[in-house]
Amino acid sequence: MQASDESKRSSAWPTAMATFVILALVVSLVSLGAVIHKTKATTVVASATGATVAAPGFDFGADPPDAFQARDPQAPAPSTQTAGTLHKVTLDMVEKQIEIAPGVSQLMWTFNGQVPGPILRGKLGDTFEITVVNKGSIPHSIDLHASKVAPNVTMRLVNPGKSWVYKFTATRSGIFMYHCGAPPVLEHIGMGMYGAIIIDPPNLAPVDHEYVMVQSELYRESDPSQPVDYNKLLAEQWDGIVFNGYVGQYTARPIHVGVNQKIRVWVMNDGPSDLSSFHVIGTIFDTVYKEGAYLLQPSAAQGGGQALDLAPAQGGFVEFTLSVPGKYPFVTHKFADAAKGANGLFIAS
Ligand code: CU
Ligand code: CU
Repeated sequence: MQASDESKRSSAWPTAMATFVILALVVSLVSLGAVIHKTKATTVVASATGATVAAPGFDFGADPPDAFQARDPQAPAPSTQTAGTLHKVTLDMVEKQIEIAPGVSQLMWTFNGQVPGPILRGKLGDTFEITVVNKGSIPHSIDLHASKVAPNVTMRLVNPGKSWVYKFTATRSGIFMYHCGAPPVLEHIGMGMYGAIIIDPPNLAPVDHEYVMVQSELYRESDPSQPVDYNKLLAEQWDGIVFNGYVGQYTARPIHVGVNQKIRVWVMNDGPSDLSSFHVIGTIFDTVYKEGAYLLQPSAAQGGGQALDLAPAQGGFVEFTLSVPGKYPFVTHKFADAAKGANGLFIAS
């Protein structure tokens, strides 16, 4: 546990500034088709000694370097094998500095050196044999929400240098969070130890494009080689909100699709603490699937969906088409979060 004895308290972002940023963002979306507002957020925290220090925040106007490659947003292909397949997966628990925004690297705790960890996928009846190998310096663990297991038996703490096999058979479909469950869980998730596993619902229709967006918060520390101040996590003072671990990556590197192609986006809110409201500007969802059930399916009644609302550790998918060529930003419609990095762009042509 990294809780500091220092009592640090952030001053609130001035309301006027926040309002300005949100309004400016909406204006820029409507008039320019751009999704990010160029602004720099800086959190000021007061130390126990009364001195103020600037926590770094993010420069949301910065562009990634030319060589930057966004994380592949494509979902893993559905399993073509019969139900009952054994999936053997190894997840290395690695504590390393990784890039989380243009010009910003920070110590993160990871599965396989990535935040979020790998996206896993299988079918109902499949068995997952997941070997976690702790290559870090402190105990970690894994908790897969897709499983029904005794936590005290299966969600073992794995000490540095040790490994553990977590085995379960998928009995319920959906997209589920997995995360490190080592105490304090808030810190291990806040530091990056989370991912998602898809268990396909029966008869899931084929689509032209299938993507995964894991929403999560990013918390920065003044010294990027150090874990985040635990008090900051407790106070829910995130600096950024992201899809797939990097500030605004799909705005910088848009996702290209065809006009009228069927698109499915799986969305997993890994939190640890914030809400998600996934929305694609300029279209209407014809299918919404949340927490293992369809809320909406194409029908003669012509019902439409506009946002998939997800509390922390909830997931689902939406399906839609983009009917005319153009640029379609996607966001969490909690716009203060969209302005802090949870934004991207589809380009339909
Ligand atoms: Cu951990
Ligand atoms: Cu959990």
